[in-house]
Amino acid sequence: MEMKFKIYRFDPEANKEPYYQNYQISADPSDRILDCLNRIKWEQDGTLSYRMSCGHGVCGSDAMKINGRCALACQKLVKEYEGQEVVLEPLPSYKVLKDLVVDLEPFFEKVRLVRPYLISETVPPEKERSQSPENSKQLDTAIRCILCACCMGACPVVNKNERFIGPAPLVWAFRYIFDSRDDKYLERLRQLDYPDGAWGCVNHYECTRVCPKEIPVTKYINTIKQEIQKTKGKSGQV
Ligand code: SF4
Ligand code: SF4
Ligand code: FES
Repeated sequence: MEMKFKIYRFDPEANKEPYYQNYQISADPSDRILDCLNRIKWEQDGTLSYRMSCGHGVCGSDAMKINGRCALACQKLVKEYEGQEVVLEPLPSYKVLKDLVVDLEPFFEKVRLVRPYLISETVPPEKERSQSPENSKQLDTAIRCILCACCMGACPVVNKNERFIGPAPLVWAFRYIFDSRDDKYLERLRQLDYPDGAWGCVNHYECTRVCPKEIPVTKYINTIKQEIQKTKGKSGQV
């Protein structure tokens, strides 16, 4: 089928303003939007910039806005857009470096804030630290996060307020708050107990709708909020 693409273009070194460029290619219904982008770049316009790596929903690097919705270009198939013009735009909320490539460093900075690694104060055992099957099951959806930032681009609060920590860092915080091997449970909760922390989320559910790994992001954020409330002492402190 013939597919029409309208792609956001911006090269800060050459353009004063962003603009949209139209392309047309023939594609199979089972082709991915990423395949189309590759063909446009290889066969029609080598100046087009976007990120990709794995091509299979694992690396998270080809997150972009596809017809207004944040998604991975390698997960969306041509047949989902039959008869439509496909508009490709960079993830919102982040500075465009070139075309569909944005600067995700502010995003990774926020992820680093929640200390996305196990912190244990016990002496390391000779072999691995064991985790109960129940605890592992409780976390097995949260650990699917590939840091694609689709949820950040889709969140209306992140779009308006760059101080809001945002959904993905909260998913990583959830993952360690509830890991029985981690010893910073209270500290982690206390760190998120501020207006632009867990409380910045106002339950739009956009993050949950767009997450390519089907992580119930909003539910986890609400669980963190409940846990903060539960552990508040009489003094009002976590
Ligand atoms: S549920 Fe919260 S974090 Fe997710 S999109 Fe809505 S406001 Fe943002
Ligand atoms: S929570 Fe989902 S949408 Fe957000 S960064 Fe992780 S995988 Fe991507
Ligand atoms: S290219 Fe890796 S997730 Fe799409």
